[in-house]
Amino acid sequence: MTQALSLNCVSRQFGTVQALHEVDLRIEPGQVHAVLGENGAGKSTAVRILAGLDRPDSGVVELNGTPLRLRSREEATRHGIGLIPQSGSLLAELSLEENLALTQPQVVLRRRRLRRALASAAAAASLDIDLATPIRQLGRAQQQLGEVALALAQGARILLLDEPTSVLDPGEIRGLHARLRELAATGVAIVLITHRLTELRAVADVATVLSHGQVTWHGRVQDTDDTALATAMIGDDPLDTLERSARVKTGGPGALILDGVCAATDDLAPVRDINLQVRPAEIVAVVGTVGSGQRALADVAAGVIPPSSGRRHADNPIAYVPEDRATALLSDLPIKWSAVLPQLRRRRFSRFGILRRGEVAAAARELFAQADVRPPDPELPAAALSGGNAQKLVVGRELASQPRVAVLHAPTQGLDLRASHAVRRQIRDAATSGTAVLLIPTDHDEAQELADRVLLIRGGRVVKEYTAAEYDQIVHQLVDTTPGGASTPC
Ligand SMILES: Nc1ncnc2c1ncn2[C@@H]1O[C@H](COP(=O)(O)OP(=O)(O)OP(=O)(O)O)[C@@H](O)[C@H]1O
Ligand SMILES: [Mg+2]
Repeated sequence: MTQALSLNCVSRQFGTVQALHEVDLRIEPGQVHAVLGENGAGKSTAVRILAGLDRPDSGVVELNGTPLRLRSREEATRHGIGLIPQSGSLLAELSLEENLALTQPQVVLRRRRLRRALASAAAAASLDIDLATPIRQLGRAQQQLGEVALALAQGARILLLDEPTSVLDPGEIRGLHARLRELAATGVAIVLITHRLTELRAVADVATVLSHGQVTWHGRVQDTDDTALATAMIGDDPLDTLERSARVKTGGPGALILDGVCAATDDLAPVRDINLQVRPAEIVAVVGTVGSGQRALADVAAGVIPPSSGRRHADNPIAYVPEDRATALLSDLPIKWSAVLPQLRRRRFSRFGILRRGEVAAAARELFAQADVRPPDPELPAAALSGGNAQKLVVGRELASQPRVAVLHAPTQGLDLRASHAVRRQIRDAATSGTAVLLIPTDHDEAQELADRVLLIRGGRVVKEYTAAEYDQIVHQLVDTTPGGASTPC
């Protein structure tokens, strides 16, 4: 039988940061419990403690009223608690089956038994996933569902999902929601961390809002409205709105040109015969369901992979925010190194081959202030930043170099309402000052807010082009064909 899991008056401090302060959180069988809050509010810390990956300074974790001293993730697994972490936890080179084998304590593995356990967990939750393909070849939605299947195969009756939908498209989000509702109906207890209020309404029974490590709201979702939830998250400060503003286009040749470009790698859905130009001060968005080739398009446009045929031209300097922010950070080193990474060769940071560490730290502090990275501590390992703060760092760093071309893939993924507004404003300001922006938007709203032109990509090819006005007219159809509704952050 599934049991209730709770945090009782739990506090956790990291250095000077009070990540959690006397937090109560109770997770019941058969319920989807959403946890919301600004970037850095303490959401991941809370679920990491529930999953045995971190320990409270004070307060207790209880399973059905009995205190639980979890010392490892394995121990939590034995109690039926499964975590699907913010940054994924599967080894990319291995299949799901092999990942499950790695979690087994026995020296002699019964491959067939493991395969059966996985297949039946996947079938019980209607998860249509490939068990034998290396994880890196699966799409993000498949990877997420794979993590769920793995947790279920390990006997999880309590699932903790840390922002599973931040890089899924509306159709995939709806698919995941349906699976979660089915699991809840069988008595599984589910925690879902999200920044999207639409998602909360679609799937959650109850919600808890954290702000600066404290619970500011808890209750049934149907008993509240979005304004009250937003206030619980960010207080009463009004958010500035971002109107679409006409920019002065310079016309003339593209700062970024792809001319008949094809590109493919072993892991990415390929792109074929791409012809596009982005002019200075223009924002061109490329929309399509996940797996249509956006990642290969971003990589080839940014110069990370070469075209297999066709011609690419990009003015320098070029900024790139990749879909997977972890690849843009040096996660084990102090954040100051990630903050200046693309500029390390500049005279400011190195003279006569000697690194000027004081300058690196000073530049990092300037960036933290400008991009609102919290906590603004240059010595903190990058891995200790919350997901949203890591995202703010990467976007802020890339746009700070006044690039001629910027390739931005899901630039507001994992950002809260305020941070998401701030980043969209930064993107618009960059374009206003002449940057040519190729945007693979985080959601349809972002394309509507920012893009001058929108290209629709399917099966690796650009199949349609819309002006901003035309896109406004047809966006509802696009959202309907990838059902799930426009994924409005918060
Ligand atoms: N290992 C750590 N070392 C130092 N600080 C940490 C560590 N883990 C978390 N923190 C800090 O604790 C605070 C809460 O972080 P947490 O990851 O729980 O936030 P979050 O609500 O999940 O935010 P996001 O929406 O950005 O993912 C942040 O200020 C973060 O930098
Ligand atoms: Mg987090």
